[in-house]
Amino acid sequence: MSLLECGKITRIFQPGGFAALKDVSIRLEAGEAVGIVGESGSGKSTLANIIGGLDEPTSGSVSYRGRLLSSLSREERKAFRRDVQYIFQDPRASMNPFFSLYRVLEEPLIINRRDLGRQERRSLIERTVTKLGLEKDILTRTAKEVSGGQAQRIAIARCLLLQPGIIIADECVSSLDLSVQAQIINTLRAIRHELGTSFIFISHDIELVRYFCDRIYVMLHGRIVETLDSDKLFTQAQSDYTRLLIGDSYDRT
Ligand SMILES: Nc1ncnc2c1ncn2[C@@H]1O[C@H](COP(=O)(O)OP(=O)(O)O)[C@@H](O)[C@H]1O
Ligand SMILES: [Mg+2]
Repeated sequence: MSLLECGKITRIFQPGGFAALKDVSIRLEAGEAVGIVGESGSGKSTLANIIGGLDEPTSGSVSYRGRLLSSLSREERKAFRRDVQYIFQDPRASMNPFFSLYRVLEEPLIINRRDLGRQERRSLIERTVTKLGLEKDILTRTAKEVSGGQAQRIAIARCLLLQPGIIIADECVSSLDLSVQAQIINTLRAIRHELGTSFIFISHDIELVRYFCDRIYVMLHGRIVETLDSDKLFTQAQSDYTRLLIGDSYDRT
C-alpha cells in the first residue's frame, strides 16, 4: 500500500473550461522523495493542492495509507492535515508580518501540541531553529527583517515542529540565490536522511529535482508525460519534452 496515491485525477476549474490536470496518476511510498517537474502552468501546484487535500479533483481519487481522502472522518482528516505539511515559494506569505518569528513558530505548536507547556515549547523551538542553522536571536525579529533564505528556514522549522510524515515542497527554493538554494536543498536532504520524512518535491528545475528525488514525474499541459528513476534520467528519458528539459539544464551549466 502506498503512503499517498492519486488515481486518474482530472481538475477543471471552470465549467466547460480546460482541464488543468488530465488523468494524472502518481504514488508516493513511505520514505521516498518524488519529484514533479514541468514548465510554469503545467499543473504542478494544482496537483500539489489536491494531494494535500487543499483542493478537490473534478474526478479521480486520492488515497492516504490506502483510504480515500473523501472517506476520512473529521478526526482522521485533521490527522492527515497535520501529517502533510507544505513549504511554498514565498515563506513570508504565510507569516504575519507583525509577529516575531518566535510567535510565528509558537502559534501552530499551541494549537497542535497541547501537551507542551510554555517552557517546553521554547526549548523545542530553539532546538529546531538551531538545527536548521539559524541563531536563536533571530526569533525576536519579524519575517520582513530576515533574508529570504532565513525566512525559508523558519518556514521549514514551522513545518518540522508538527512532525509531518510528508512534506510537499512547491518551488520552495525558486526565488532564492543559487548558493542559498543549495544550502536549503542540503538541509532538506539531511532532514530526509535523519527523520525519514517523505517528500513531494515540485520544481520547474529538472536538475534540482534530480538531485533531491528518487523518482521523477514529468508534467506537460496537465498530463504526466514520463516517470523515471532519478539515476536513469539522463540515460533513459524517452519523451521529447523530458529531453528538452534536460537539454535546458545542460545549457545552463
Ligand atoms: N484557481 C484557479 N482557477 C482557475 N485556473 C487555475 C486556478 N489555479 C490554476 N489554474 C490554471 O491551471 C493551470 C495550471 O496551473 P498551476 O497548477 O498553478 O501550474 P504550475 O504550478 O505548474 O505553474 C494554469 O493554466 C493556471 O492558470
Ligand atoms: Mg506552481
